[in-house]
Amino acid sequence: KLNIKKICCIGAGYVGGPTMAVIADKCPEIQVTLVDLNAERIAAWNSADLGELPIYEPGLSEIIERTRHKNLFFSTQVDKAIEEAEMIFISVNTPTKNYGVGKGMAADLKYIELCARQIARVSKSGKIVVEKSTIPVRTAATIKSILEDAEGGLEFHVLSNPEFLAEGSAISDLIDPDRILIGGESDEAIQALKDIYQRWVNPDKILTTNLWSSELSKLTANAFLAQRVSSINAISELCEKTGANVDEVATAIGMDSRIGSKFLKASVGFGGSCFQKDILNLVYIARTYNLTEVADYWEQVILMNDHQKSRFANHIVNTLFNTVNGKRIAMLGWAFKKDTNDTRESAAIYVADHLLTEMAQLAVYDPKVSASKIYQDIDAISTRSSEENRDLLSVHLNPYEACRGAHAVAILTEWDEFKEIDWQTIKDNMLNPAFLFDGRRLLDRKEMENLGFKYYTLGE
Ligand code: NAD
Ligand code: UDX
Repeated sequence: KLNIKKICCIGAGYVGGPTMAVIADKCPEIQVTLVDLNAERIAAWNSADLGELPIYEPGLSEIIERTRHKNLFFSTQVDKAIEEAEMIFISVNTPTKNYGVGKGMAADLKYIELCARQIARVSKSGKIVVEKSTIPVRTAATIKSILEDAEGGLEFHVLSNPEFLAEGSAISDLIDPDRILIGGESDEAIQALKDIYQRWVNPDKILTTNLWSSELSKLTANAFLAQRVSSINAISELCEKTGANVDEVATAIGMDSRIGSKFLKASVGFGGSCFQKDILNLVYIARTYNLTEVADYWEQVILMNDHQKSRFANHIVNTLFNTVNGKRIAMLGWAFKKDTNDTRESAAIYVADHLLTEMAQLAVYDPKVSASKIYQDIDAISTRSSEENRDLLSVHLNPYEACRGAHAVAILTEWDEFKEIDWQTIKDNMLNPAFLFDGRRLLDRKEMENLGFKYYTLGE
């Protein structure tokens, strides 16, 4: 029986950070070391001020405070941590490839391969290597073949252990997961990982499968979840034409236990680092096996999402009498969902880009996203120079500043604090007619109309 005493996790990001923090918290006798090439990120994880941690997640800083420098360590010494550990999690990024074959579709596995080569190069003893990153089905075969060629004939076992946490609720998802999925070939290695999760997860919730089912289940789960959002968003457009109300429809269908009530909230479009990337990857895999119908079917989820983002932006322009040139539009929210500072693939970025192309003056406020991050995101699209972006887009420290003198306000993220805003004050300081575009169905129509807003929300 393998008794794991030292764990190393390569990649101290949104997944590696919270996941290892919870493992360290639940397993005080295991030493957990998170390593990353990004020295700035590691320094932020080590910073004395817990407000400076690189990732914001409710409940995370408390766990870091309890475990850091006790059995949880953050370091840039990757080789050393690999060498010492009996179990290594690979939790590096697997972004959509932006060059060469599969550009814009396939997952870029260069970081995964680099990790496997590094493990093969520096190991002096056999190890269990756990795929935590989301990867295309059959990636374990690549990792295995690299490890098998390691010098000294060391014994490696590769496990697939996809992570299902959602940002904004990462800690509670990790502490109380719906299930833990472990794919592998060696019973001994599977048991070693199971032993770790069993410290706090009911064994009934720990599912073991073969490697390929586990790898494919992660892509499939994200595709199904995103498909629900695109499905309800498709219905939201039909609601607007017919007098139906999308929340009423969602409640009505969600009470069917076969459908279920979660993940049926119409929105300006899903964002985040996972849904689009993982569906594109799934579509690409299907195409490589010549499964055209399968690929086309899933690709539609992305096309619908793109449509939802652009129709929201178009609606703003059309409502503002077909021009937003020189008009101030306040954007409330930049993160891709509430309770996170992550902005990857956020719908806000695409809506902003559309409005900037129409020469609007954007005034942005987000409770957790910094001005530099907002400029970095909009510059990264490369639609216009960074000087132009700074001329047209300003970032504000509170919603009242952002909305002052605006022709319109658009809500892009469902932060709870937007419900608590004094909307009367906002209205009083805006130009008339005061337009309010609610991309998250966050506010109450009647209330907003009584305050004098021209209120639009998706799906009614
Ligand atoms: P991230 O970009 O926040 O973190 C990845 C980290 O890996 C970065 O800090 C990067 O510097 C580091 N890294 C890359 N190559 C390295 C190397 N060779 N050596 C050391 N460090 C290296 O990414 P993330 O959001 O944590 O996602 C990681 C993986 O988990 C992805 O495959 C993603 O699809 C998957 N995933 C993400 C989520 C989520 O909500 N973000 C949820 C489930 C699964
Ligand atoms: C997702 C998966 O939920 C998680 O299991 C996986 O591990 C990583 O990808 P995440 O992207 O962090 O997690 O957040 P999620 O809550 O799934 O939201 C994704 C996007 O969909 C957000 O932009 C959110 O606002 C949007 N969404 C979600 C909706 O628009 N409507 C919904 O009903 C649910």
